[in-house]
Amino acid sequence: MKTDGLAKKILKTTAKWSIITISVLMVIVLIIMIIGGMFVPSEYLDPWSKKYSKRVTDERLQLLSIGILAPNAHNLQHWKFELDDKDKKVFKLFANPERIGSQDPTHREMLISCGTLLEYVNIAAKKHNVGLDTELFPEGQIDEEKFEESIKTVPIAKVTINDKVNLEMLNLYENVFMHETNRYEYIKTPMTQAEKEVYYSLNDFKDLNIKFLSEEQAKKNISELTLKGLDITYKVPRLANELKKITRTTEYQKNKKPFGFSLETQGIKNPLAKYFLEGNMTVMPFLGSNKNTAKITQKVYKKLYDSTDTFMVMVCPISKMNDRTVQVNCGRLYSRLVLTGHTLKMGFHPMSALIADYEEAVQIKGEFMTKYLSADEYPFMITRVGLVTKLFPKSMRQNVLDFVK
Ligand SMILES: Cc1cc2nc3c(=O)[nH]c(=O)nc-3n(C[C@H](O)[C@H](O)[C@H](O)COP(=O)(O)O)c2cc1C
Repeated sequence: MKTDGLAKKILKTTAKWSIITISVLMVIVLIIMIIGGMFVPSEYLDPWSKKYSKRVTDERLQLLSIGILAPNAHNLQHWKFELDDKDKKVFKLFANPERIGSQDPTHREMLISCGTLLEYVNIAAKKHNVGLDTELFPEGQIDEEKFEESIKTVPIAKVTINDKVNLEMLNLYENVFMHETNRYEYIKTPMTQAEKEVYYSLNDFKDLNIKFLSEEQAKKNISELTLKGLDITYKVPRLANELKKITRTTEYQKNKKPFGFSLETQGIKNPLAKYFLEGNMTVMPFLGSNKNTAKITQKVYKKLYDSTDTFMVMVCPISKMNDRTVQVNCGRLYSRLVLTGHTLKMGFHPMSALIADYEEAVQIKGEFMTKYLSADEYPFMITRVGLVTKLFPKSMRQNVLDFVK
């Protein structure tokens, strides 16, 4: 009887302390999630709403609110728009000089990202039953010697809205609201010739070519080289610091500066997991250190590359490697590829670290070019492509009005 009473007492005490411990843990988890921004509305995702473009009455801004959903390097959204005061049908696209970064020293990716936006605007125009007259570099080329000065004043494009709807334009409007870059594993099946033909058919730019790489040795080599390239981005302080500067770790930061990277970029979808991780990274910043991120990236990306059957490269003749018009056109082509990919249930995931232009990556890029491109080909973009296993979370976007000069 005595031992019975003792056992009951122990059980009661254990239960009491278990409840206290669980409650304390739950309160701690809740506090961490609140620090992460659990009760903060995700305004940084508002531009993805189909109704978003209706918030503005100016037709140019309505088209541009679709344009800003375009994929773009490092999610820097390096765009500025100048709306013509006198002609309500005209706007100019500029690159944003404040978003120039060390990851892209030749500004190739910035120009490509201007092209991705222009193509999205084109697709929106068809939906609006209007046509567009797009003139690239209407006031002449950028002064390459004084790039950073010149980029402030030289428009990348002048766009005039007209009533000649381009009936040949692909009907891809619905696809612009889907996730874009898919950094999850793909189903490792070979791409069919018919699928390749669909992609080839999207390319009507004379200086651009699409190439597919899927031989075993090439895939292994590309994976290894890109992993080396990614390691550089976290180990070279100049590059790593820049990545850190554009990484937002809480919901508050994402709403304040909705460009760059966040946990969505890593594929974190579950909101509770996201708030918990964001809170943890705020309380224990070492969790997001370059060393830690580099280690995780190697593990995760190796798996991603292993799940990939096909890599796609967009190339131009080597004589055009610095041609800004061809770079913008590469962006236009990339948008068509990504949006058509949604229809084919295929995802794209660029791998810039393999073909980066900073000096630390010269050897990696050189080895890739020597082995997999002909002597006259220069790579503008390389991406993994494949059948998606699940939809990827959407990334942050700025308010369309914030881009207006
Ligand atoms: C020129 C260019 C280069 C890119 N390079 C990479 C890359 O190296 N790694 C990556 O994960 N995503 C890359 N991306 C995808 C962007 O990071 C992505 O478009 C951006 O973060 C916005 O996300 P979303 O495409 O999902 O909307 C690139 C996109 C472009 C246009």
